[in-house]
Amino acid sequence: MTEGSALNEEVGSPALRELLAEIDTALADAEQAFGRAGDLAALEEARIAYLGKKGRLATLNQRFGQLAADEKPLAGKQLNARKAEIVRLDAERREQLERAEIERRLEAEAVDVTLPGAAVPTGRLHPIEQTRRQVEAIFRSMGFRVTESPEVETEWVNFEALNILSDHPARDMQDTFFTDRGKVLRTHTSGNQIRTMTELEPPLAIVSTGKVYRCDSDVTHSPMFYQMEGYLVDKAISMGHLKGVLESFIHALYGAKVGTRFRPSFFPFTEPSAELDMACVFCSGSGCRVCSQTGWLEVLGCGMIHPVVLRNCGIDPEVWSGFAFGLGLDRITMLKYGIDNIRLLYENDLRFLSQF
Ligand code: PHE
Repeated sequence: MTEGSALNEEVGSPALRELLAEIDTALADAEQAFGRAGDLAALEEARIAYLGKKGRLATLNQRFGQLAADEKPLAGKQLNARKAEIVRLDAERREQLERAEIERRLEAEAVDVTLPGAAVPTGRLHPIEQTRRQVEAIFRSMGFRVTESPEVETEWVNFEALNILSDHPARDMQDTFFTDRGKVLRTHTSGNQIRTMTELEPPLAIVSTGKVYRCDSDVTHSPMFYQMEGYLVDKAISMGHLKGVLESFIHALYGAKVGTRFRPSFFPFTEPSAELDMACVFCSGSGCRVCSQTGWLEVLGCGMIHPVVLRNCGIDPEVWSGFAFGLGLDRITMLKYGIDNIRLLYENDLRFLSQF
């Protein structure tokens, strides 16, 4: 940009010298203005101010009219050279600003891959549902099929067909929820035996889980709770089959080492009847609060299906025999996790439920 300076002082008319000086000043000003432009928008404004149609160089161009004809080529050459220089400065500054802009964005949008991820809270299965699936899977693996039946049940299915006659205490208002249509909320899942055995021919191996209802409420009883019914009907089925299946079940659920015992019991729909106990999972049989110092926990009721029940379903007890068992899924769940209050299972408190 100093190339023409000597020339300015020595040659041409005052008008030419003045114009050449202004062209130089324009270049110096443009360089400053581009340098001051802090972003691309400001630079564009500066570019228009110098190189635009009505910009400073265009204005200087108009002054050529005041020059003598032989001075015009020199001024034109000078103006073009300075203009080229200004165009170059503009491009240089633009590149600088673009690079700065990219750096700035890279910094602003930087992702710290070492930051710990944000955990997405996920739902999970209710502990009773987990138990239900686990228990069903064990019986499925032994060849049992899963069926369902209604929660609002006829008295025939829930009681009579199961040999629970009308004078039985279980049929008292104290224990059973009656609906206004002469039906009951099923008090156990044993009615599933009646529904399925009436419909299907033996041989049968069925389990059925679901809600049952009783007028009962304390720390170990809830008016609504869950049971699983299981039964198997075939030829020459004995108590031995019952023991084998239930011991396999307990071992699958609590481990092969846990001890079991059968105690005689009574149910109107099984004969003989028994209750299955297993060695207390909390004290391994030495006696604790959970097993009331007995070393044993009651797990389920069972027995050989009463001939009257088979006959009520149209199955000939001279040809077929079977066993049945019923267990509380709530109880299994409470034993599994050492939960001592059944209400915790039904209050839907996430602080409790998220532990499983
Ligand atoms: N239905 C019985 C109860 O609710 C359990 C049971 C089922 C017992 C099948 C024997 C056979 O307590």
